[in-house]
Amino acid sequence: MTTPIQTIASALLAARRIVVFTGAGMSAESGIATFRDKPDSLWAKFNTREMASPAGWRENKQRVWAWYEGRRADVIATQPHAGHIAVAQLADTLQRVHGNPVQVSVITQNVDNLHERAGSESVIHLHGSLFEPRCMACSRPGEFASAPPDPQASTLEPPHCTHCGGYIRPGVVWFGEAMPEQPFRQAEELVDTCDAMLVIGTSGVVRPAADLPINAYQLGKFLAEINPTPSGLAGYMKVQWPTSAAQGLPELLAQIEQVQTS
Ligand code: APR
Repeated sequence: MTTPIQTIASALLAARRIVVFTGAGMSAESGIATFRDKPDSLWAKFNTREMASPAGWRENKQRVWAWYEGRRADVIATQPHAGHIAVAQLADTLQRVHGNPVQVSVITQNVDNLHERAGSESVIHLHGSLFEPRCMACSRPGEFASAPPDPQASTLEPPHCTHCGGYIRPGVVWFGEAMPEQPFRQAEELVDTCDAMLVIGTSGVVRPAADLPINAYQLGKFLAEINPTPSGLAGYMKVQWPTSAAQGLPELLAQIEQVQTS
């Protein structure tokens, strides 16, 4: 009987273009809260309309700015884990085993920068980034206040745009807002042309992001999920591997490397 790790390893060894699609569960073992799957997840503690909608911003931008600055402080204070590092090393590992060029592209719903800090070079952020604030009025990139963000602050005056004086807002996609077109188009292109897709740490409930694995399924791509709990996308997967990102991904790399020595 072939195990999930063996099936995924052989599919990745046969692939030349791989998409790694991630959600909040990818960063959970770096201590970054997920949104839905735990009693202390963000949307169990905070109201989406208040914290993640244009209306919530209009109502109380000091509360919203403080919240995102607190989340940015948490990301700055932590490190990528072995799973992020394994994703960054996946292409080199495969190329070392079979000698052919491999492209690994990360498409993430996460607004942290842990994939980049782990060394992943091709990372598309579908829902924006905590590190890319912009002006609410002129949309130019904004600057953070010089003082490091305070994870405890419950209200904080947002900075103002140095060009037009407008308020600087978090560079993330809020509920009710359209997803930035260009990154989504790029992501669709990568999914259309990939050979295999890993779906890691997402509940698969937020669209249109969750449509990407479904598109891959409809195009007959190899799909595997790494998630301790089968997600809403599990039905589209060739393999559902009930393990965590920090545990499973380094094991997967070791399994691939084993092929070289056997
Ligand atoms: N390793 C792998 N998967 C994990 C781990 C882990 N260590 N811990 C939790 N998970 C899984 C959970 O089982 C769950 O399926 O990660 C998933 C987290 O789901 P959500 O909290 O819903 O996060 P996500 O799918 O990324 O949310 C999508 O919703 O709120 C919006 O914009 C926000 O990008 C976010 C989007």
